Amino acid sequence: MKKFWFVLSILVLVFFVSCGDSDDEETQQPADGNSETEENTEPEEKDDAGENQQDGEEQETEEETTDDNQEPQETGKILVAYFSYTGNTKLLAQYAAELLGADLAEIVPAQPYTAEDTEYNNPDCRARTEYNDPASRPAISGTIENMAQYDTVLIAHPIWYGDAPRIMDTFMESYDFSGKTLTTFCTSAQSPLGPSAENLKKFATSATWLESRRFEIGSSKEQVGEWLSSIGLAE
Ligand SMILES: Cc1cc2nc3c(=O)[nH]c(=O)nc-3n(C[C@H](O)[C@H](O)[C@H](O)COP(=O)(O)O)c2cc1C
Repeated sequence: MKKFWFVLSILVLVFFVSCGDSDDEETQQPADGNSETEENTEPEEKDDAGENQQDGEEQETEEETTDDNQEPQETGKILVAYFSYTGNTKLLAQYAAELLGADLAEIVPAQPYTAEDTEYNNPDCRARTEYNDPASRPAISGTIENMAQYDTVLIAHPIWYGDAPRIMDTFMESYDFSGKTLTTFCTSAQSPLGPSAENLKKFATSATWLESRRFEIGSSKEQVGEWLSSIGLAE
């Protein structure tokens, strides 16, 4: 009988001990719960990360904006080179140079054009003859010193017979524009940009070309500035 009570007390003891264990397990649950809480924190962390991402995005945007703002500086040293017979293009080239803080250089024909040379309705005038001959390269007086120093070059000209005057071909062939950022702009009585930009691009295929622009005669400095902004050269 004593043996029976002894065995029974052992069983009772074992029972309580095992209950105690399961209590411990239950106690661990909150720990799991805590880890759930941790899990709950995770999304928050993700949210934080999301926020951080947004922050990052915002920062990127800010950086981009800053980049945009800095773009004029990133363009390095800028040259505005222009040919102008009657002064319309010259005025806009001056505006561009002022707006960009750029150097300004005139493309001067070695043999200046006369009124006779540029009689639009005379099919035999010099300007028309040059236009008709794709190999024509009217000579330029002087050279631009140290073209290598310029990272960006704006090339300006009037429209003659729907295109850039041949002297612009001479100009393009006179320098190595590889690696530079280039664009052209022109003035005309009514013709559009036409093939002028594409034709000049052929002389510097390894340059980075920005979108060209044709201006009406008498366009304002503000209009020039808007174009410069639109192609990322000015704010
Ligand atoms: C020889 C010659 C050809 C021209 N051909 C055109 C033409 O095809 N289309 C046009 O709209 N204007 C034409 N024009 C007008 C000029 O493009 C316009 O007056 C331009 O603004 C002149 O610029 P500049 O003063 O810088 O020389 C021509 C002018 C000249 C002298």
